[in-house]
Amino acid sequence: MTNRLAAALADYPWDALQPAKQRAAEHPGGIVDLSIGTPVDDTPAVAVEALAAAGNSPGYPTVAGPPELRSAVAGYLGRRTSATVDPGAVLPTIGSKEFVAWLPTQLALGPDDVVVVPEAAYPTYAAGATIAGCRVVATDDLDRWDDVRPRLVWLNSPSNPTGRIFDVDQLRARVDRARALGAVVASDECYLEFAWDVPAVSVLDPRVCGGDHTGLLAVHSLSKIANLAGYRAGFVAGDPQVIADLTMIRRHAGMIISRPVQQAMIALLGTDEHIEQQRGRYRARRDLLRPALERVGLVVDHSQGSLYLWVTDPDGDCWKTVDRLAEIGILVGPGAFYGQNCGDHVRVALTATDERIRAAVKRLAAL
Ligand SMILES: Cc1ncc(COP(=O)(O)O)c(C=O)c1O
Repeated sequence: MTNRLAAALADYPWDALQPAKQRAAEHPGGIVDLSIGTPVDDTPAVAVEALAAAGNSPGYPTVAGPPELRSAVAGYLGRRTSATVDPGAVLPTIGSKEFVAWLPTQLALGPDDVVVVPEAAYPTYAAGATIAGCRVVATDDLDRWDDVRPRLVWLNSPSNPTGRIFDVDQLRARVDRARALGAVVASDECYLEFAWDVPAVSVLDPRVCGGDHTGLLAVHSLSKIANLAGYRAGFVAGDPQVIADLTMIRRHAGMIISRPVQQAMIALLGTDEHIEQQRGRYRARRDLLRPALERVGLVVDHSQGSLYLWVTDPDGDCWKTVDRLAEIGILVGPGAFYGQNCGDHVRVALTATDERIRAAVKRLAAL
């Protein structure tokens, strides 16, 4: 029997990168893999210890998590963004990818509904819309929103893959337009901590939303800010009614974070030290890698934030750049994976060890 949903979801395109990966792996100094954004630094001991201490967990955890967890999230958002969030309007998630993928379904959207995603985007926004049977419109043009009348709009600032950051005015314009159309705004803020050249602002910042969270969801992840990708830990905050509905649906669906991971989140979100340390590591890697790419004639566009450099070679398309860099053992991601008009860029991730970043810089310098 054909599974219509499996057929509708595009295959992961990463197989197309295999030849370049093989080529890069043949480099005598080994591959420098900058094609994916998986963290490589250690999970902070404070999280590991809290996880271990909660290892004896015979009872079921709750979807909303213990009050300490929701308070820790509200405290984190208050300290690190300008958002004042009621702990009751917080929902822990099993990492943010599952939330992205299931949000349209859990908002009860369907075939009559449009989901707007950025033109260059993390592919799971479209996958989630497809799972719900919605129509996906990839556009950065606010005027197009009026034509397609979306029910859900995804924002992602700082962006994967482009690193672009929206300022307060740009975010407020999007929130205002979505509100006028009655659309929910889901703002994927998993890279909010990684703003290098200009500040990054949450959709829940009062300058953006006027202190009213109606119709707004800020989506966060602990994967990148503190190397908890293996734990699967994230959270959403925002519109209290939407959060309450999603919590209820997720109780029925059994979408619960394990108790030990909840404890690790509480411990981690209680302090800024590890997040600052991780930011410092990525900033140092970016400071090395960006000029090294520019010195060989590559052009870095946007890239004010996030963990990626959005790079183009004036002479070629993304696959030519992928191949050129694979020749010196550096693997990068083709822009074509992220949107229809992204084929002239490659995405270069900062998520490699200091040693691998230094190796990449050395190889680029020898070009
Ligand atoms: C833009 C964006 N959103 C969400 C995620 C998912 O992160 P996680 O599921 O680890 O929280 C990623 C992962 O790379 C991402 O780049």
